Amino acid sequence: MLRFLTAGESHGKGLVVVLEGMPAGVPFDIESIHYDLKRRQGGYGRGGRMKIETDQIDLMSGVRLGRTMGGPVAFLIWNKDWQNWQEAMSALEPVPPERQRSVTRPRPGHADLTGALKYNFRDIRNVLERSSARETTARVAVGAICKLLLNPFGLQFFSHTVSIQEVEVRLDSMPEFDARLGEKIESSPVRCIDPETGTRMVALIDKAIAEGDSVGGSFEVRVVGAPPGLGSFVHWDRKLDGRLAQAMLSINAVKGVEIGSVPDRAERTGTAFHDEIFYDKERRRFRRGSNRAGGIEGGMSTGEDIVVRVHIKPIPTLRRPLRSVDIQTKEPFDAVYERSDTCVVPAAGVIGEAMAAVILASAFLEKFGGDSLEETTRNYRGYCEQLEKF
Ligand SMILES: Cc1cc2nc3c(=O)[nH]c(=O)nc-3n(C[C@H](O)[C@H](O)[C@H](O)COP(=O)(O)O)c2cc1C
Repeated sequence: MLRFLTAGESHGKGLVVVLEGMPAGVPFDIESIHYDLKRRQGGYGRGGRMKIETDQIDLMSGVRLGRTMGGPVAFLIWNKDWQNWQEAMSALEPVPPERQRSVTRPRPGHADLTGALKYNFRDIRNVLERSSARETTARVAVGAICKLLLNPFGLQFFSHTVSIQEVEVRLDSMPEFDARLGEKIESSPVRCIDPETGTRMVALIDKAIAEGDSVGGSFEVRVVGAPPGLGSFVHWDRKLDGRLAQAMLSINAVKGVEIGSVPDRAERTGTAFHDEIFYDKERRRFRRGSNRAGGIEGGMSTGEDIVVRVHIKPIPTLRRPLRSVDIQTKEPFDAVYERSDTCVVPAAGVIGEAMAAVILASAFLEKFGGDSLEETTRNYRGYCEQLEKF
């Protein structure tokens, strides 16, 4: 079973990650992990924190001579910003109250108030330090390791920004997702596949910055090359679409997930909506004439691209204050602005990509298993032969 745990606070020493269930023998390309971490730090509309950090992993265990050993892969991601927070975030040393940087004013739209009520805290810092999206850095690193497992089997992961507020990419048809398109996405400041739409998105973010506001939007994750049959129809918690939706909704500020063409589904009749089945005699494989199902039917991958669209709310820390109540005095106040992002949709796409890689790697290992990459490869090839002979 593939699983991971993270620990760490936003202004603590750093993040601690343990990833369990990787087979032995997976080549460990640290550069590709750092590349994904860098992509998460970017995107037009990010705030000051990302200028302080240069996220990299400090590998502790599970890898030897460039390959995984089958045991837990453990690593740290240090927070440079901790230098500025050592006193307030001290684990054991006593600190005078005036230097604890305590928070008694809950920010609307955050875990602040409910977290304080639930854990009985009088200092909201105990909530916001862990509920912060800083934790998603760890997930991006885990996702990058999952990609290292899956890439040799032909699975590739992409994400791109579909909309920021009301500006949306509208193309007659989506281009084919390959490495070249991936480069084009990364060359856009908002990770948009259409440069003209990207320029309008940048203008919208600029406007929000000028007005002290924030903007949300949506991104799409695409998985190319998944074989048919990952996930299952037999139980609710084995359905691939359900697992992907949960993983996406666990990302901070994500409020909605769609698999395939949801708006289309509502507008069209059944005969016009569903993807018809054909057989490609040359490649000896079944294919769909279209992919409105988004690559998943009955909780299983169909072999077409897996397409997940994810909706992000406008982030809640605003220069233009929202009303709230101090938990100590019970008096109203206008929420104070702290350094914050304005738009996180481009970065959230990278996190969504990582979560898709975690779910796909987990489903892949359930199907093909193996303690070593060689064993997983043998099982995978056997299944491919079975499909060809079908
Ligand atoms: C990459 C990323 C960065 C974020 N940065 C901020 C931020 O700077 N300020 C903020 O108020 N919210 C930010 N958020 C959103 C909050 O973390 C999130 O809205 C909050 O934890 C409440 O959780 P919920 O929206 O999932 O209910 C960010 C989210 C992501 C995905």
